[in-house]
Amino acid sequence: MLEVQDLHVYYGGIHALKGARLKVDRGQIVTLIGANGAGKSTTLRTIVGLVKARSGSIRFNGEDLSRLETHEIIKRGIAISPEGRRVFPNLTVLENLELGAYNQGHETFDRQRQWVYSLFPRLEEREKQLAGTLSGGEQQMLSVGRALMSRPQLLLLDEPSLGLAPLVVEEVFRIIQTINKEGATILLVEQNAMAALQVAHFAYVLETGRITLEGTGQTLLMDERVRSAYLGESTQSV
Ligand SMILES: Nc1ncnc2c1ncn2[C@@H]1O[C@H](COP(=O)(O)OP(=O)(O)O)[C@@H](O)[C@H]1O
Ligand SMILES: [Mg+2]
Repeated sequence: MLEVQDLHVYYGGIHALKGARLKVDRGQIVTLIGANGAGKSTTLRTIVGLVKARSGSIRFNGEDLSRLETHEIIKRGIAISPEGRRVFPNLTVLENLELGAYNQGHETFDRQRQWVYSLFPRLEEREKQLAGTLSGGEQQMLSVGRALMSRPQLLLLDEPSLGLAPLVVEEVFRIIQTINKEGATILLVEQNAMAALQVAHFAYVLETGRITLEGTGQTLLMDERVRSAYLGESTQSV
């Protein structure tokens, strides 16, 4: 479904992606893990055209995305929930969802809204509440819900568990699996490697702009290098 090859991205003089690559097959949850600054967010931003690659290719359902604008990419079926759950604090929950819907007809909008509310019942309860008054976990759900309003085939999630309490983190990962089972393919960026690898069909490790390891979620969970670098086991004696 998505194939990223040899991606090079610069921010001025900073070479943030140095040949990053990955593949996402339809129906999967694929995760990209890596330390802070590895280039995870840059990878997602480049896929949706918010950042332009200097070279490399991004193909979605066979089509090259690299020359398309973000709104054209979203129209083709990719949506992003960005890092830091950027909801519009002074708009209501419903208004935030409307912004994710782009220019769909009423029927599609209602269907998507009902789906989002079935995934996140608390958003329905708080439909008329200003987004800025929601808890961190609820804002994260709104950010994911807003991305789902555009009916994406492929959902990009940038650190959905960041800064959330452990119970809320569990809930977020459960919902990610539900969204996947209900038909959306997911590319999940996480620093919470343990949780991400547990739900992922396939995983990549990104280090300073390059993919250094890949395998099934289960394989990487067992991998010594992953365990010591990302699962916090270097200081534990076994
Ligand atoms: N807007 C920006 N301007 C300049 N440098 C940036 C910008 N965004 C990210 N970077 C740099 O690019 C590298 C990758 O960042 P990022 O993709 O945010 O990593 P991650 O999401 O894995 O933490 C880092 O060195 C970061 O400092
Ligand atoms: Mg990031």
